[in-house]
Amino acid sequence: MGKLKDYLPGIGLGALVFASLFGFALSNTAHAQARRLNVVCSVQIEWCELVRNEYQRVSGVRMTMIHRSSIEALAMLLAERNNPRTDVWFGGTGDPHLQAAERGLTLEYRSPILDDLQPWAQAQARRAGYRTVGLYSGVLGFAFRPDQLKRIGAEPPRCWRDLLAEPFRQQVMMGNPTSSGTGYMIISALTQLFGEEAGNDYLKRLHKNVAQYTHGGRGSIENIVRGEGSVAIGFMHDAIAARERGADLEFESPCEGTVAEIGSLSLIAGAANLDEAKRFYEWALSAEAQTLARKVGAFQYPSNKHVAPEARILDPSQTLLTPYDHRRFGSSQIRKRLLSRWINEINVPQND
Ligand code: G6P
Repeated sequence: MGKLKDYLPGIGLGALVFASLFGFALSNTAHAQARRLNVVCSVQIEWCELVRNEYQRVSGVRMTMIHRSSIEALAMLLAERNNPRTDVWFGGTGDPHLQAAERGLTLEYRSPILDDLQPWAQAQARRAGYRTVGLYSGVLGFAFRPDQLKRIGAEPPRCWRDLLAEPFRQQVMMGNPTSSGTGYMIISALTQLFGEEAGNDYLKRLHKNVAQYTHGGRGSIENIVRGEGSVAIGFMHDAIAARERGADLEFESPCEGTVAEIGSLSLIAGAANLDEAKRFYEWALSAEAQTLARKVGAFQYPSNKHVAPEARILDPSQTLLTPYDHRRFGSSQIRKRLLSRWINEINVPQND
């Protein structure tokens, strides 16, 4: 397997190595300048920017990258389905990628390095008919600031039920399930753990304690870091990243169990720059590219088996995981039902 230093910029030796690795030739700079790629990116903005800068540097492609939460990205791809302007969808929770696959928005493609990926990443590809693939995994949990908990007289939450306690009134932050893939995954995780009715009842009671449903999932954790609430439900790797930056934040995996996302990667059906899109896709799955993520505090668990371990990255298999029915929660029908129940029964004034 090539090392990152092989993917050198411009038309030097590195570019030739890159060209031979990925089966294309850079004949001259003008040719390189004409190459384009449009990516929608649903991970943390720092990782998106790193991917753009690094890939532009190693490939010479001119890349347009826009940042959208997972559900927003899905809505955008649906809106442009007759005239796609996007070539690749990088990251974001797995359910909307499965919904995109089901609706034919993404392209069937089997990476030659599929066997180098973790079994859960390959399983994601299989259940989508190879219209997506696993890029990373992350575990849903709680993040809280101990000093804030002291201030409001609350015990550190260890279990889902603890978040319903009175001291947490107007103190909880979570992603809005109508825009955030994380938010959707919270309601589907509760459905998985407790059943649809009990999950819905829980969400109703939780609603009284929610201070804000944030647009994107990571925003809930960032709000806690800023002291705008006491506890966030979100991905634990985002809490680890905030701690790395110096935030006084702790995190917990709920005692009743939790679920793991399969952050995914998809090629867009009808992509104008399909060859470039495939090259980028292969790069994004490589151990070299996935190792870069930690440089900017993206501590998701990588899908490539050959990425060297890192102490700050939680191995999802080491947490109390409830098997998550990706197929069920990745279906448009279930999504529609869970979201319409949330809109009509949970996020309503009489529940405040
Ligand atoms: C953050 C997390 C990712 C997750 C993504 C989903 O970037 O670190 O692991 O896949 O959010 O974003 P969303 O804004 O759709 O909840």
